[in-house]
This record gives sequence, C-alpha cells and structure tokens, in this order.
Amino acid sequence: TNTSTYKRGAFILFEGCDRTGKSTQANKLFEYLQIKGHAVKFWKFPDRTTPIGQTINAYLTNNQELDDKAIHLLFSANRWECMPKMKNLLLGGTTIIVDRYAYSGVSYSASKGLDLNWCRCSDIGLLRPDVIIFMDLSTEESEKRGGFGEERYEKKDFQEIVRKTFALLKEKDDDDSLWKVLDAKQSVERLHEQIVEISLDIIENCSQLPLKEDN
Ligand code: TMP
Ligand code: MG
Repeated sequence: TNTSTYKRGAFILFEGCDRTGKSTQANKLFEYLQIKGHAVKFWKFPDRTTPIGQTINAYLTNNQELDDKAIHLLFSANRWECMPKMKNLLLGGTTIIVDRYAYSGVSYSASKGLDLNWCRCSDIGLLRPDVIIFMDLSTEESEKRGGFGEERYEKKDFQEIVRKTFALLKEKDDDDSLWKVLDAKQSVERLHEQIVEISLDIIENCSQLPLKEDN
C-alpha cells in the first residue's frame, strides 16, 4: 500500500576484537559504496575528536587513569553525543558504516569484571544497527598482526575474554540474525566480497523500515 519512494540509509556495524581487520574492511566497503553512487558516511567509535573522545584517548593511550565504570560511561556518552547526527543522516537516506559501537562497549567493560547487565544500561535507547558484521579471529592470529600491544586493551589474555563476551552478547541477543559472523582469517578480498553482498542486501531490505532502538 505504501508507494512512497522514500528510502532511509542503512546502519552497518563492524564489531570484533582488536586487530581483526574491522577498519580495513569498513574502509573498503565505504569506498566500494561511494564508487557505486550510494550516499554513505563512515563513523568510528570511540570518536576521539570530541572532548569526551579526547579523554577516552588519553585513557586508552595510558596517559590518564579512570575508574572502570567512569570510562564505561564515557564510551557510552561518546555514542549518545553522536546520535542526533547519525539519526539525521540515516533518515536523510545516507548509509552509515560504523567501526565499533555499544557491543564493544559492553564486551570490553564486562570483560574487566563489571556486571554485564549494568554495562548494557547506559546504551539502552541508542539506535540499533541493521546488521552487525562480526570479524572473528583467534587471539593467536590477531596478536601476530602489526601494532598489537600499543594500547591499553591489546593484551592476549584480555582479548581472549573479550572474544568470549562478544559471543555471549550474540547468544543473548533477541535478534541474533542481526549478527553475521565472518572468519577474519580469510583474505582481505574474499572478506570484502562477502561484506559487499551482505551490505547491499541490508541496504535494499531496510530502506522502508523504521529506525530501531537498542533495548
Ligand atoms: P579502536 O582500536 O577501535 O580505536 O578502539 C579502541 C579501544 O577501545 C579498543 O580496545 C576497544 C575499546 N572500546 C571500549 O572499551 N569501549 C567502547 O565502547 C568502544 C567503542 C571501544
Ligand atoms: Mg585498537
């Protein structure tokens, strides 16, 4: 019955542990969609450019200490401060490719020992992604990749726990069909092909659906 040609953009999220190829694939997808003529924007969390993001950066680079709950809430606030812009873009028809989001927020904080349900509370009501592309890689493999060990959370034992916590979040998700788990050990090109297929499908299928909120 709805003959409107209005199309909203898709919220495509990349999640996973450190050094699993999220940024590489998110950037490749961004370039691909742009060349194909899609209205598309790239977003990365933490967004280190805002005042909150600068505090997060100081924490991650070990230049500032913060209570575990305080930093958790700052990561969450860093998403909230971007919501109005993201919402406007999506409603205006722009697809947003997001590198990390609330699932990282909960997984990393809960892996430090904070209560998982407490961790989820501050993200309730954020926009819900249309798809979560989860880059799954064994910690042995991610550790071999360049740069591992530079920032606060880049430690093998901790990443192992984070990976398990991500799996738990997927399991607990009311709509776990949202999660597309990819074997991140595959070649960059092979992964890109799968991600393009998933993304074009989502862009097409969510264009007439209302935006959803996380609950
Ligand atoms: P990045 O390496 O993708 O820039 O992310 C920086 C680190 O911050 C990474 O180890 C994951 C962690 N993180 C959280 O702990 N909570 C969050 O909410 C986000 C978005 C990232
Ligand atoms: Mg990192």
